[in-house]
Amino acid sequence: MHEYRVEPVGDDHHEFFYTIHSRTLNTLNKSYLLPVDHDEVKRSDIHHRLVQFVFKGKNYVGPVKEALQFGQQRRGSYPLLDLGTGSGTWAIDIADEFPRAEVIGVDLAPIQPSHVPPNCTFEVCDLDQLYIPYPDAHFDLIHARSLHIGIHDYPRFLREVARLLRPGGLVLLVEPTLSPCQPPPTQAPMAGWTALWRTYRGCLSQQLIDVTVPEHLPDLLAATAAFENIIVRDGNIPVGFWPQDPHLLSAGQLQWMDYELLLPALRPLFLCNGLPPSIVDRLIQDAQHDLYHPAYPLSTLLHIAYASKCF
Ligand SMILES: C[S@@+](CC[C@H](N)C(=O)[O-])C[C@H]1O[C@@H](n2cnc3c(N)ncnc32)[C@H](O)[C@@H]1O
Repeated sequence: MHEYRVEPVGDDHHEFFYTIHSRTLNTLNKSYLLPVDHDEVKRSDIHHRLVQFVFKGKNYVGPVKEALQFGQQRRGSYPLLDLGTGSGTWAIDIADEFPRAEVIGVDLAPIQPSHVPPNCTFEVCDLDQLYIPYPDAHFDLIHARSLHIGIHDYPRFLREVARLLRPGGLVLLVEPTLSPCQPPPTQAPMAGWTALWRTYRGCLSQQLIDVTVPEHLPDLLAATAAFENIIVRDGNIPVGFWPQDPHLLSAGQLQWMDYELLLPALRPLFLCNGLPPSIVDRLIQDAQHDLYHPAYPLSTLLHIAYASKCF
């Protein structure tokens, strides 16, 4: 029998944060080296708006309403989990959209707003562990977006997601590629951009994070043998200001802003992996140069998969 336990979040949040290399990081899992500060909250908000564009104004794809209706018929309400909630914007939006849902957003750090819908709560917990401290077969929907770089054993994480979902419940996974903005076949890759992303993947691999998770979501879901109706909906996202179509232009602007915030956010990760500051600053500056003056119209891939827990 497991103990149901998450970190209590009081008014004093200092214990959850420390500063290194001029950015604020979380104390709960010190191997997660992306910041949990104002700029990263902003990036999470931008990412949320971008994915809404991809989902044509909605907060999700897949049979979410059906999964929630089933839960409501059984219990009158439906519990819903957002893993690695970041700024909490998805959790807040989904709580507004489904007032009968009881939404829990979970993250390493309490960086979410305090004024939220009454059916939305936030909890602090490290999800990179053997047991995620929520009851079996409890949730109707579990959402995990842009989380995999904080999870060392993603197959184990998915087995935990399966345990937490009730039979027929839905998991929705969204993970951006870690090899973005590949050149067209006729063109050479942009050197600064390519070097930065190669270094980023190298640092994560050194920390034993599987950088190919985004490309393998359906296989990973299938390997648990706990999910059925596995659907992939990968999205091609423009990056920057080149699209003529207004909808694509908005998506391109949001993705560009996301990357602009991400590049300096990688500094603590690179430095903590032992790269000299001069090399790190050069890597970031060269990648920024390629983002500001791209040699070709950039685009990237958002990997999206959803599946139902088997009955
Ligand atoms: C890139 S942000 C994405 C936030 C949000 N899901 C979104 O899509 O905007 C990743 C979030 O996952 C959280 N995270 C990473 N590893 C985690 C872990 N092991 N346990 C809990 N949260 C984690 C980070 O603190 C961060 O807020």
